[in-house]
Amino acid sequence: MDKNEIKKNINEFYDNVAKEEIIVEGDIDQLNKSLGYSEDDLKHIPREAQLGLGCGNPKEKGKPQLGEVVGDLGSGRGMDAFLASKCVGDSGLVIGIDNNYKMLEKAREIAEKKGFHNTEFRLGEIEYIPIGDNTLDLLMSNCVINLSTHKQQVYNEIYRVLKPKGRISLSDIVLKESLPDEIRNDPKVHGTWVGGAISLEEIRNLLENAGFKDIEIELSEVTDEYARKWGYGLGIKQYIGNADIIGYK
Ligand SMILES: C[S@@+](CC[C@H](N)C(=O)[O-])C[C@H]1O[C@@H](n2cnc3c(N)ncnc32)[C@H](O)[C@@H]1O
Repeated sequence: MDKNEIKKNINEFYDNVAKEEIIVEGDIDQLNKSLGYSEDDLKHIPREAQLGLGCGNPKEKGKPQLGEVVGDLGSGRGMDAFLASKCVGDSGLVIGIDNNYKMLEKAREIAEKKGFHNTEFRLGEIEYIPIGDNTLDLLMSNCVINLSTHKQQVYNEIYRVLKPKGRISLSDIVLKESLPDEIRNDPKVHGTWVGGAISLEEIRNLLENAGFKDIEIELSEVTDEYARKWGYGLGIKQYIGNADIIGYK
């Protein structure tokens, strides 16, 4: 499938998610806990920001600190941005970026309604991050970069917007082994993160090319619930995993 067509499919998919035409079935708390969110984390995240779209909890390894400036790429309705906002406090700033206006609108509405004064949401593409050079202490992203058809450009951009010694904490779906053609060519997986996933080695190379140092990648199994929801009955669980990635500029 042509790259522009993939991008269009992804945007249409998230339009429908933002409008809640596609939503995670079942117990969202249980799904979030299986992804690494604690009871305390979930208490702090407004319920309407929780769409069950992540594949990890990047706050865990990123450890946002009081006063820091933190970015969240592909922020959706702001789940991880709102969690980071608690950690950075009033002296810090959290910037969520998403290219889907419907997502952004909801995230801004929630921020205003719930009084997240240190959190803003910017419309933009992760391939052209709307943040100045050397701005962020920490960049997080949860289940987004695998969607990009220009991943090297995304990692280069992340490097650019981080301060010297700034860090990344990324959760992403990765390929453990190549997808068979019948899955790769199934249009359903193109709108979601499974279709764009690459291997750990490829991710490490892209990060190193961008200039990152001290990269650590932890691979874990995706949950049965995740595989059921996003695998569309195609038997994806053996092919994909979740990677928690850290690294430094
Ligand atoms: C899997 S969802 C994750 C949302 C959020 N991180 C969470 O865990 O709830 C992917 C998000 O990335 C956004 N997105 C996809 N491709 C993007 C791109 N190229 N630039 C910016 N945002 C993008 C989508 O609109 C969607 O909100």
